[in-house]
Amino acid sequence: MIDKKFGIIGKPLSHSLSPMLHNYWFKKYGISGNYSLIEIELNEIEKIIEKIRNNVLHGINVTVPYKQAVIPFLDLMVGDAKKTSSVNTISLNKEGKVVGNNTDIYGFEQGFLNKLRNQNFKQNVVLVLGAGGVTASVIYALLNKKIEKIFVSNRTVEKAYEIKKKFPSIEILKWENIEAKAKDVDIIINTTSLGLAEGSDFKQEFKATKPNLVYYDIIYNPEETMMVKKFKKKNILTYNGLEMFIYQGQKSFSLWNEIDPEIDIELKKKIESNLK
Ligand code: ATR
Repeated sequence: MIDKKFGIIGKPLSHSLSPMLHNYWFKKYGISGNYSLIEIELNEIEKIIEKIRNNVLHGINVTVPYKQAVIPFLDLMVGDAKKTSSVNTISLNKEGKVVGNNTDIYGFEQGFLNKLRNQNFKQNVVLVLGAGGVTASVIYALLNKKIEKIFVSNRTVEKAYEIKKKFPSIEILKWENIEAKAKDVDIIINTTSLGLAEGSDFKQEFKATKPNLVYYDIIYNPEETMMVKKFKKKNILTYNGLEMFIYQGQKSFSLWNEIDPEIDIELKKKIESNLK
């Protein structure tokens, strides 16, 4: 008998390595738990949240495209979820309330920003591509680092303006202009789904960039998107989203199980060997 059941809701989910991550830690720490993929439609969110309320499920992660859609069904938003209106971790608190939290900001900080050698990036100009579920978390973390110039561009410009309501200091750029803007920026962050295995990809070439550009791709599966490959060839420093993925999972695990699980070498190897 498994005592605690967890899972991730989203659609599609076939690329998700979250079960591997959490089930590895359950085994390592001798917890009787199981974490599974729960692929659902939008109209099934309420039913899943009820399972949390009734202790059938003990915790869920939320991924695309439901990080905002779950909010109306929660009793309470805490921590970084409140600041971003984006929820990726749900559980029941001691008072029986369904609580939404956000561990993406922590993941992005630990998995990328805190890893950069030069921590003096206040003056950096950053171009954020996309305005989807995770973009607000990325922008929040950049503002935390006191970065002043943040350009955000999304194919559907209205969604970028929605994010600007929350973070008025960002500048919105038309999607047609991203290639021209890329020439002048220090960091480019891809938060779109462009580059995911079996999905579409960027049509832009991004031929002209600063030589010291840093390119960050939130995608971790495939390990190297076409953009990462292209920039690597030009000796530009690139990162994928793998570390962010692991750190957000670490924080979710610790919120649910009150154990700070270790990111050990065996875990990293296991995950890397399952990437496309
Ligand atoms: P959601 O927007 O529902 O939260 P998401 O997967 O978190 O879903 O976000 C997908 C992101 O990838 C969005 O920024 C999306 O742009 P749109 O808002 O215009 O849809 C972006 N995206 C997906 N396919 C794209 C494409 N072919 N070209 C440009 N951007 C794309």
